[in-house]
Amino acid sequence: MSVPASVQWVGGVDGHIELIDQTALPGRLERLACRDVETVIEAIQSLRVRGAPAIGIAGGYGVVVAADEARRQHLTGEAARAHVLARAESLASARPTAVNLRWAVERALRAIETLPEDTPAAVLGEALLTEARAIHDEDRQLCAAIGRHGAAVLPAGGVLTHCNTGALATGGDGTALAVITTAWDQGRRFEVFADETRPLLQGARLTAWELVQRGIPVTVVVDAAAAHLMKSGRVAAVIVGADRITACGDTANKIGTYGLAVLAAAHGVPFFVAAPSSTFDLAIDLGEDIPIEERAAREVTHPLGVQAAPEGAAAFNPAFDVTPARLIKAIITERGVIEPVTRATVTGHM
Ligand code: MRU
Repeated sequence: MSVPASVQWVGGVDGHIELIDQTALPGRLERLACRDVETVIEAIQSLRVRGAPAIGIAGGYGVVVAADEARRQHLTGEAARAHVLARAESLASARPTAVNLRWAVERALRAIETLPEDTPAAVLGEALLTEARAIHDEDRQLCAAIGRHGAAVLPAGGVLTHCNTGALATGGDGTALAVITTAWDQGRRFEVFADETRPLLQGARLTAWELVQRGIPVTVVVDAAAAHLMKSGRVAAVIVGADRITACGDTANKIGTYGLAVLAAAHGVPFFVAAPSSTFDLAIDLGEDIPIEERAAREVTHPLGVQAAPEGAAAFNPAFDVTPARLIKAIITERGVIEPVTRATVTGHM
């Protein structure tokens, strides 16, 4: 069984975005219609849509929604374009770490750059929709290629993954999770461990849900079990996705990824990153320059809405961390495998 598309465009240029509301999973499969930019931004910030490629796709379609807002407000010429550009900037900065979001918004905007100043909003929308659809379609193909390249280098034995990098997080079958599902679909059999991924439980709620939908056995572990699991010898590889990869290969991903990479090195377990080229930011050299999103303390003190820390306790809630390139055995992209991970191999690959 497959997993439904996490983001889709419904209708023509005056249509809307339909998202799977990932905050309702695994209990309920609910869809959310986004007909205005505020709803798209709220969905991105609340993680109703999440995962670097998926928020990029939502951002691309979000700019189409901005053009439709301009049309509905009867804005013309420069006023229509100014509305689109202002809303595009709000979309691009809705979350700071995953570079795919700004990348997709800026790519969509390039489609209207050369259109005359007095272009009507509906015509701007047509050009933006064509580009947003292209971003979405390409991502579907990139995922398939990442799955193939990754399955070819994934060693035999158990695999541990972190956060959610599957169909929910992308326009196709995923990045790191596509490597796992591609290997499985090729007939290989191995244990799959999903870190629950505190505090928002993307691993337990979403990765486990996707694997169950696909009929692939999955074992959820608390994040703190990773060291014990690796020591037991049941993990032959760790594979994760990425939100931004710098020119030297330093990689931002869900909080806890860096710790996993340190543990993998300590236990001699290869640590893989899988990501499309839209996740690379060669304008940034070192990981310390990647902006790290900090989220509300309440996500830590009240997991799933249940009070877990006393009133008055503070919480530090970085959503991402950075794994240095030296801890990464290889980065798998749609173009192939970067190994070893160095400034020369990363920039040469792009
Ligand atoms: O905060 P999230 O759930 O959007 O974080 C997502 C991740 O960290 C993923 O690992 C990453 O975006 C890669 S998704 C293919």
